[in-house]
Amino acid sequence: MIDSATRFEAARRRGRRVGGTVEVHAEIGSTSDRARELLRAGEEGTAVVAELQTAGRGRRGRTWTSPAGRNLTVSVGLRPRLASTEAWALGPAVALAARRACEAVALVRLKWPNDLVAGDGRKLGGILVETALDGERLVEAIVGIGINVNWPRAEMPAELREGATSLAELAGEEVDRVALLGRLLEALDEELGRLEAGERPLGRYRAACATLGQEVAVTVGAGRVVGRAVALDPTGALVLETPAGEVTLASGEVERVRSVGDR
Ligand code: BTN
Repeated sequence: MIDSATRFEAARRRGRRVGGTVEVHAEIGSTSDRARELLRAGEEGTAVVAELQTAGRGRRGRTWTSPAGRNLTVSVGLRPRLASTEAWALGPAVALAARRACEAVALVRLKWPNDLVAGDGRKLGGILVETALDGERLVEAIVGIGINVNWPRAEMPAELREGATSLAELAGEEVDRVALLGRLLEALDEELGRLEAGERPLGRYRAACATLGQEVAVTVGAGRVVGRAVALDPTGALVLETPAGEVTLASGEVERVRSVGDR
């Protein structure tokens, strides 16, 4: 495990804004906390990778579970030149970058807002973007990405096994995590450049999004909205057609109820 941890450093590309440096930890609380620390110390774009996180976190206050030495858990601290009102675009852009990194290995789709899923809907990875705003400016964005890489479903905890999978399960063979990290950092750097140049990722995101067209139930806070996912609004919010009319959700947890073609 120590060998492979050291190898992650081979994914760095000196001089590039994202992943110009790669910092590897055999064990850490959360890579996102370390990426924030580095960013605040003036180091933008360092990729913090860990073989094991002891306090890995997911969206909506959940724990991110990932066994040592199998998967990819990485965070990058950024100061994107974006207005606060454009911060929403980071999630879809990062999701597209992660999808592209996985493409060499398996076909991956996106589940709104930014999960990586296999064709059968099982979760392959997740993205946590934590931002800090100062009035009209986005001052800090900590991008955290977790991808199930060489994690056999048989070894997943029972509560995850039904709904999760890994790249190796899809590919039918072990996947090179260093090469995956290299593609991910390159794709993140490119997406950041496109965002700062004024491009918005929604068209590409829509094309990759498996949620649109599905009958879904979305948990929002303590509530739940059921309907058909019909569109994304210009800020990436999900538009549901419900018996009571159209409902637009800026965030939430989607659970698929039924899709066209299901019996
Ligand atoms: C989710 O699907 O809920 C998002 C999961 C994000 C997990 C990654 S792993 C690397 C980084 N460090 C963390 O503590 N979380 C993110």
